[in-house]
Order: sequence, then C-alpha cells, then structure tokens
Amino acid sequence: MDATPEVAVKPELDRPTSVGGTPIFTLQWPDTKQLNEQLREVVLRKKETTPGLKKSNCGGWHSQTDFQLWPDAPVRTLMDMLLQGMLPQVIKATAPGAPEGLFKGWEVESWANVNKMEDSASQHDHVGGTNLWSAIYYVDTGEDGEVRSGLTKFVDMSGVPRPLKGDAATADRTAPIKTWQDACGLSPVGEEYDIQVEPVPGKMVMFPSTLPHYVTPYLSERQRITIAFNLKHPGYAVADPQNPRARKAMMWRNFRGVMLAGQKAKGAARDGLAQVVPPDRWPAPVRKRLLGGN
Ligand SMILES: [Fe+2]
Repeated sequence: MDATPEVAVKPELDRPTSVGGTPIFTLQWPDTKQLNEQLREVVLRKKETTPGLKKSNCGGWHSQTDFQLWPDAPVRTLMDMLLQGMLPQVIKATAPGAPEGLFKGWEVESWANVNKMEDSASQHDHVGGTNLWSAIYYVDTGEDGEVRSGLTKFVDMSGVPRPLKGDAATADRTAPIKTWQDACGLSPVGEEYDIQVEPVPGKMVMFPSTLPHYVTPYLSERQRITIAFNLKHPGYAVADPQNPRARKAMMWRNFRGVMLAGQKAKGAARDGLAQVVPPDRWPAPVRKRLLGGN
C-alpha cells in the first residue's frame, strides 16, 4: 500500500470576505467642559429627587426615560448636538442619497446613568419597540487621564468561534457556559474580541440598536455619568425581518398604517401632557405607556 503522500505546500488563506460589519460611529465634541459640568449638576440634582429604574444596570442610578423632556438648557444643547450634529452625518454615511425629509422627524427616548464604585451594566441591546439607532454621550468618565474601568464594550457578533477563558479552556469542559445576558459579571467567552470604545468626556457614540453591548465594572470614587439615547423614525426599517429581538417587527411589517397612527397619537399625548404636568409626577402606568420602560 502506498504511503499517504504529504502535502508539500501549505496554501495560505485567501483574504476573508467581510459581510455585515456593524458600524459604530464616534464623534468627539470640542470644548464641552462647561456643558459637561452643567449636565453633571442637572443629572445629580434629578437623581436626588426621582427614583431610578432597574434595567440592564448592575447598581448605579438609571433615570426615567424622559431625559429628552427635561427643560434644562444644557439638556436642550445636548439634544441639538445629537439631532443636528451627529445624526445627519450618520445618516449620510449609512443611507447615501436619503431624501431630505428623512433627516427630520426622529423621535428620541433618553435617560441618564450614574455609576459609582463597582457598578456595571450587563449585556443588552436597545431593540425594544422600533428603535433604530442608539447613542451614548460621556458627561464624566470619573477617572482622570486614561480610563481603565467602566468601559463600554460592543459584543463581537461576527459568529466566529472564540476561545473560552480560564478553566473553560480545557477540551473536556462539560459545565454550562454562562452568558452575559442576565448576569452582572465578566463574559466567559470572547470578551477580548469585543470592540471597546474609549470613554472620553464629550464623546458621542452611535450604533445600531440591535448591537449588544455592556459596561465593565467601574472602579473609581467619583460618580461616572453618561446619557443614553434611542432614536426611531417611521421612514426607516432594519433589513432583517428575521431578527428575533424585534418583538413588534411583524406588526410593523404588516400593519404599518395602524402602528404609525398609534405612534403618532402616543407622541402627541406625551408631549401635550408634559406641557402641563412634569413627567416626574405622572402615575407609573402613564409613564410606562407614554415613555416606555418597565
Ligand atoms: Fe445600552
């Protein structure tokens, strides 16, 4: 019997073809020191007077999702930075040739986060409802110089297998692999492949709402403050009708007229009510109905 011939040449891989790369946009706003000090004051004052929500945050204070309605001047400035400054550039980059009308009419839901020592955020996305883009603004990263904790990390969604960590690296591991989804802690797999955005005061980050992310434990004494945003617009849809996270996707695909009318009525009711009663004082069921959240 002939010996198995050896392969003399080890061919090199062709360059991989990339598909579905998810963009993460960043914009560093200049001269934000004063604005950030004012935002910090506004947020900490609000924190003293309103209860926080429990969402993906592990510890820390997560404001009600009504930041966009706060009447304070620095809040208005930040909303303009988001809607007039960053969003149009992201639209131009991702939807070249989008008609002028699609740059206006975005609806925003927003909230503030305040983290103290050891607070973090478990893995989550912002797909609820019809959110399309989500954003973060860093008011105060809490640490001077290079930021080493409280890092925002976006999950590697390439589908490429990554090595397990620690004991999990042994080939015969049989214990279940924990996931980040419902736990506060470090990822058991692939964390080093996740994309990290360096938190810097004045930086705005925008990403598709479908992209999971988390915040590593914060390890400093000064309170870390960020603002988060969700953006929706009836003129856009995500070209992924199979996305299992989009709970209302079927309704939005098949009954758009009804859904649009409902969204418009809800927006009018919310804005009208906010004119006469501050959102802080709305009863919980009204808040849930008009502002979302739990
Ligand atoms: Fe988030």
